[in-house]
Amino acid sequence: MKLLVCGGAGFIGSNFVRQRVTDHGDQVVVLDALTYAGRPENLEGLGVTLVHGEIQNAEKVAEAIGDGVDAIVNFAAETHVDRSISGPDAFVETNVRGSLVLLEAAREREVKRYVQISTDEVYGSIEEGSFTEESPIVPSSPYSASKAGGDLLVQSYLHTYGLETVIARGSNNYGPYQYPEKLIPLMVLNALHDDKLPVYGDGLNVRNWLYVEDFGRGISHILAHGVAGEVYNVGGPDESTNIEVVKGILKHTGKDESLIEYVTDRPGHDRRYSLGSEKVRALGWSAQVRFEEGLEKTVAWYRDNAAWWEPIRSGEFREYYERHYGRALG
Ligand code: NAD
Ligand code: DAU
Repeated sequence: MKLLVCGGAGFIGSNFVRQRVTDHGDQVVVLDALTYAGRPENLEGLGVTLVHGEIQNAEKVAEAIGDGVDAIVNFAAETHVDRSISGPDAFVETNVRGSLVLLEAAREREVKRYVQISTDEVYGSIEEGSFTEESPIVPSSPYSASKAGGDLLVQSYLHTYGLETVIARGSNNYGPYQYPEKLIPLMVLNALHDDKLPVYGDGLNVRNWLYVEDFGRGISHILAHGVAGEVYNVGGPDESTNIEVVKGILKHTGKDESLIEYVTDRPGHDRRYSLGSEKVRALGWSAQVRFEEGLEKTVAWYRDNAAWWEPIRSGEFREYYERHYGRALG
């Protein structure tokens, strides 16, 4: 299959590209703006074509589609909730307008399949039970609102133009190549450096953890078997409070709980996410990696891959960290 993967130099996108090349033998073109989160080294050795450009740039999208692709899978997005609170503009630009430009190109070029990668955060927070694909869209942050906007545009292209779209909504991913602004890699690297571990609020917010390779396999099932116009939730097998996650990381890094520091809560912080995944299971998918095993593998990957994170920790991330947390990294 010839695939255009937008945002394929980021965390989930690059793990997905690796699976498509190694497990499916696909020919892959990646279109990526290479923002702070997009790293060409994530694609090293995979033999993919990388087009450097934004999804909201119609000319770059046309260049990436070239003489045609069988499907477009769109991961490209601004993804960090905290950054969306301090600077929402880029989120609307990429997640809403970028999705529109891509959809327009897919329609014009009569691309057979368009897969939009979305998030459980579009459903908002849930105290008990789990979201289904029929749950109302009630996003709470500028990030999730912009992802919901992208999803609504995707659905409009099915209804109005008959473009064969599907949406995959994942829960919290973790694993190799995740930028260290996100909870798990941030806490792993801080623990390895004996920096404080900044836990927001009371640490009792709950996330539904999904190993990144499981999400990739779910997306491949949806790409191959998903019914046009449908949404598929892809949730992880386990839920955990943030403080349990942090204590697990301290155990795997052999560090002391005195490193934990409770800090001011994130504004509008969603309390709990939980996704029901019966619909994607009916397509033959199930998660293979339980959280305990995945967390241990992830900690080991960061411990063994300093060459990947060292340039990040000494570059843009360091400035971001100081601005956001009001303290220096060690
Ligand atoms: P990431 O931040 O690691 O990567 C995003 C990628 O998109 C980067 O390579 C970046 O350079 C690229 N990008 C950003 N703006 C772009 C633009 N305008 N044009 C082209 N490329 C652009 O993100 P991630 O965690 O890998 O998330 C990928 C997708 O999955 C996103 O759509 C996100 O909303 C969704 N998602 C993420 C999670 C999660 O837990 N990380 C869970 C569910 C869904
Ligand atoms: O649910 C899917 C979403 O998961 C994706 O759509 C987003 O792109 C992704 O960023 C993620 O959003 P979260 O806000 O859940 O992830 P984050 O890693 O930022 O935070 C996870 C939890 O940890 C959340 O409750 C906030 C808390 N947290 C986070 C950071 C960065 C802390 O307590 N301290 C921190 O320093």
